Amino acid sequence: MSQLRRTRTFVRREGRLTQGQQRALEALWPHYGLDVPEQGAVDLDALFGRTAPRVLDIGFGDGEALVEMAAADPDRDYLGVEVHRPGVGHCLLCAEQAQVENLRVATVDAVELIHRHLSARSLAAVQIFFPDPWPKKRHHKRRIIQPAFLDLLAERLAPGGRLHLATDWADYAEWMLETLEADERFENTCGPGAFVPPPPPRPQTKFERRGLRKGHTVHDLIYRLRPSAAR
Ligand SMILES: C[S@@+](CC[C@H](N)C(=O)[O-])C[C@H]1O[C@@H](n2cnc3c(N)ncnc32)[C@H](O)[C@@H]1O
Repeated sequence: MSQLRRTRTFVRREGRLTQGQQRALEALWPHYGLDVPEQGAVDLDALFGRTAPRVLDIGFGDGEALVEMAAADPDRDYLGVEVHRPGVGHCLLCAEQAQVENLRVATVDAVELIHRHLSARSLAAVQIFFPDPWPKKRHHKRRIIQPAFLDLLAERLAPGGRLHLATDWADYAEWMLETLEADERFENTCGPGAFVPPPPPRPQTKFERRGLRKGHTVHDLIYRLRPSAAR
């Protein structure tokens, strides 16, 4: 775990905030933002104002797909985590426009958030769409999908909880498949060794469109935490 936390899965590239994003971060943060405490678990029931199954979206980018999913799934709560603030600002603008009530966002390292501030069995699902592929071999240790990260998810997911991954990098798709298939705690919902047949059960994302324009093929994987692994 300590290696996982020392090696960041992202490089901070702040980029420029538009006026709208800046305004959204100021005006909408009190409603949608999660101010992560110094220590201790986040009280998700208090954050969302109810008890409901929770979906964690790691690295939501501009947030458009996340807002669309939350709006279409009012019985579950969505917690988005993204370190890129212009993306968070954009997401807040979309959330306001769609008037979604079951969405909250945090601008911290998702690995730290899960490790330090989310309780065991608190998540019904985790989704990671088009994570940074870190294509160079010497950077593979920065890929978020690693055995140590699965240890963390296996503790935070509820029994039967879902892990949905998508990537447009062929090499990362194989890496994800190999890493998950080697972990007996997770069961492939499409059968051993199988990717999700297209179309995947999720909206298209910004990075997915970018990959498709470059001629990349998209692969989705959906695993379930075996109830026997969640005791
Ligand atoms: C390639 S983009 C994909 C964005 C979006 N999911 C999409 O498909 O359009 C990956 C995103 O993950 C974010 N990210 C990477 N590691 C992260 C971490 N540990 N915690 C939070 N966000 C992270 C990056 O800032 C980046 O915006």
